[in-house]
Amino acid sequence: MTALADIQNFKITKLTEHVGTEVTGIDLRDPLDPKTLQVLNDAIVDNVALVFRGQQLTPAELLKAVSQFGELMPDQNQRYVVEGLPLVSVLSNRHKDSTGKQAKIAKNANWHTDHTNQEFPPKFTTLYGVDVPSKGGGTSVCNMNAAFEALPEDIKARITPMKTTNTLMSSTRYDSANPDIAREQQTSTKPPMVQPLVRTHPERGTKAIYFHKGKVETVADMDPFESQDFLADLLDTALKPEFIYVHEWKAGDLLFIDNRTAMHKAGFDYDPAEHRHLHRVLVRGDRPF
Ligand code: OGA
Ligand code: MN
Repeated sequence: MTALADIQNFKITKLTEHVGTEVTGIDLRDPLDPKTLQVLNDAIVDNVALVFRGQQLTPAELLKAVSQFGELMPDQNQRYVVEGLPLVSVLSNRHKDSTGKQAKIAKNANWHTDHTNQEFPPKFTTLYGVDVPSKGGGTSVCNMNAAFEALPEDIKARITPMKTTNTLMSSTRYDSANPDIAREQQTSTKPPMVQPLVRTHPERGTKAIYFHKGKVETVADMDPFESQDFLADLLDTALKPEFIYVHEWKAGDLLFIDNRTAMHKAGFDYDPAEHRHLHRVLVRGDRPF
């Protein structure tokens, strides 16, 4: 581990070469001064993911802390939020769907980036560990700029101009996914959102593979099932262990993910009798290009 910066009394330490960094010595209940905020923002962007260790944040304190990094935006799924604080989502393996069954959260088990069906998807997804399994259930984050750059030149050239169309849920998943969300999509009249398959980072100019497979209806001129196969193959080719950081949770960790460069997924390799309970706050981003 290499120390990147020892500024005032906090410390930023890179976790792997391509992705992940951690910060100690900051209590996010205190406001950040502008210089520290800039250093932290750069550390998130340059390392794709950043974790603040050892926080003690109520949902209201979490909101206040994250709001220093930009305008907050609501989760499009308002079924599971903290009462009275709709900007704080609750992720829990104990949620029930409207039929009373354990809610399917499997979509988070697949590599994705958040809210690609929106015009202004979140630039940062932040996750805060409230109650976490004793082992497993980590959040994986992949540096999709490194993954893109490592592709063979012909694949890069082929995928760079491609567009995806995105909805709340791909029609290929209606039968297998959360029935409440499937119904919401099936009765929606919203036109699909077009996104670039290869996204340019607005602050750095770098290129990254960008999609949420569960929300992609089509890629380029492919039909929905061909599109799903194409994206699965692309991930197989592009993902390499050295581009991935797995955040193993401790209660009090606050993980920032830069969605303009990252894809992420939840781990399900834990004892389901244990509670996995995270709070999530989203920071609004720009129109992807
Ligand atoms: C999410 C998500 C990952 C996790 O909330 O968008 O992907 O580890 N969560 O729960
Ligand atoms: Mn997600």
